[in-house]
Amino acid sequence: MKENIIAHSFGITQKERNQHKGHNSFVVLFTGLSGSGKSTVANGVEKALLSKNINSYILDGDNVRQGLNKNLSFSPEDRKENIRRIAEVSNLMIDAGIVVLAAFVSPYRADRENIKNIVKDNKYIEIYVNTPLEVCEARDVKGLYKKAREGEITNFTGINAPYEPSDNPDLEIDTSILNLEESVQKVTHFLENKLIITNE
Ligand code: ADX
Repeated sequence: MKENIIAHSFGITQKERNQHKGHNSFVVLFTGLSGSGKSTVANGVEKALLSKNINSYILDGDNVRQGLNKNLSFSPEDRKENIRRIAEVSNLMIDAGIVVLAAFVSPYRADRENIKNIVKDNKYIEIYVNTPLEVCEARDVKGLYKKAREGEITNFTGINAPYEPSDNPDLEIDTSILNLEESVQKVTHFLENKLIITNE
């Protein structure tokens, strides 16, 4: 089948879309344990970016798994497919001129490498939300750590499934040390160096 599919070349280019939006586009992956603060920080970053007229959009594990990825479990193979689809969706959004804030546990190094390969190196920013397991577990906002400890969830990251830490993330934050405002500020400050504003 694949050999019969020929990509169509459309008239408007990514460059033109970026010019129209007024800035460049890339994906920011927030990786880390459940409860580490990925989505909460991404939420704050989206608000901060919007106030600067930067178009961004949050892709988040809990939400995407209710739609596009609702057929996927938490087995290593399904997590790989989860991240592969996120990389492809991010790639489309980057082409559309949007800054993607992707909040996924993404526990496997190889899967994170795969995002980088799909969206290309210079459009990938990795933020390791390195909040200690004890803190995430004490927060247990969704009650999932308790369930995992009681054996009700068999492959829960940090408890009975691995998290492979990032070797050299672009940025690292620990939300047990920084409060929300400080975390958001640290990320947005970092992104300011990556954003190329063209409509000023
Ligand atoms: S990933 O590992 O495939 O990247 P993803 O970010 O999409 O995970 O989803 C993680 C969210 O699903 C967590 O925030 C948590 O609320 C929920 N969840 C349910 N079961 C698991 C599990 N076994 N491991 C990790 N998270 C789980």
